[in-house]
Amino acid sequence: MAVIIDGKKISQQIKDELKEKVAALKAEGKTGALAVIQVGADPASSVYVRNKKNACAYIGIDSLAYELPEETKEEELLQLIQELNEKEEVRGILVQLPLPGHINEDKVIQAISPGKDVDGFHPQSVGAMTIGEAGFVSCTPAGIIQLLKRSDIEIAGKHCVVIGRSNIVGKPMALLMLRENATVTITHSKTRNLPEICHQADILIVAMGKPQFIGAEYVKEGAVVIDVGIHRDENNKLCGDVRFDEVMPIASAITPVPGGVGPMTIAMLMNNCVQSIEEGQK
Ligand code: GUN
Repeated sequence: MAVIIDGKKISQQIKDELKEKVAALKAEGKTGALAVIQVGADPASSVYVRNKKNACAYIGIDSLAYELPEETKEEELLQLIQELNEKEEVRGILVQLPLPGHINEDKVIQAISPGKDVDGFHPQSVGAMTIGEAGFVSCTPAGIIQLLKRSDIEIAGKHCVVIGRSNIVGKPMALLMLRENATVTITHSKTRNLPEICHQADILIVAMGKPQFIGAEYVKEGAVVIDVGIHRDENNKLCGDVRFDEVMPIASAITPVPGGVGPMTIAMLMNNCVQSIEEGQK
């Protein structure tokens, strides 16, 4: 039976550590705010944005909310980002994705000053992470590394199979595991023999975006299984990419959905904001 990796508890520990750090920085006169921009009113995005604002309040940093209408022009959004780039007190800028179809996401991400790119999505942040230089690291993969480390799961020398190659999770995840000296295989929708490859994994990280796709046949006895997916099943209950009940008896450790990877993303976003406040204007 697998140990359940409690992302809620670990993220709470991190937020409590950050809360102390924010208080200490405040005492040195170092403060700053996170600007959160949402375009349109996608209900899932609204929940994420609210959680991010609540996390800021918890650790003691200001959040500035920009709720823009769906029909906002790309030009207007780029203008707002430019203004926020120039504001000294704004230490982080987050544009909630996805954006409406008429706005070019890449252009928006690249408009954010890399020194305020707390999502770690800017090509400069991605490049820095790739070559192991300092910079903001994408929050979900960074959170997964923390989950593994704080659960005393060794990474070095292990075979890690990542399912998914998105810019937000799969690709940075593979690079971070490589940085931790894992042997890494990246798989995706065109991969042949997916069950066979996954079955070789000591650590299986599933970010494919398909509800309850991964079952027992993908998992080696004793493997660690990290589930990045979040969906609603036919009963409107939250579920991941992994069939939890089926994999649980085989794995040595597993993240639940909800309460696994999800809360870690926000904790690492807060970590990036605190890092930005600490480092000051760049
Ligand atoms: N949409 C889904 N995940 C994320 C995230 O981590 N950051 C932003 N900005 N938007 C998202």
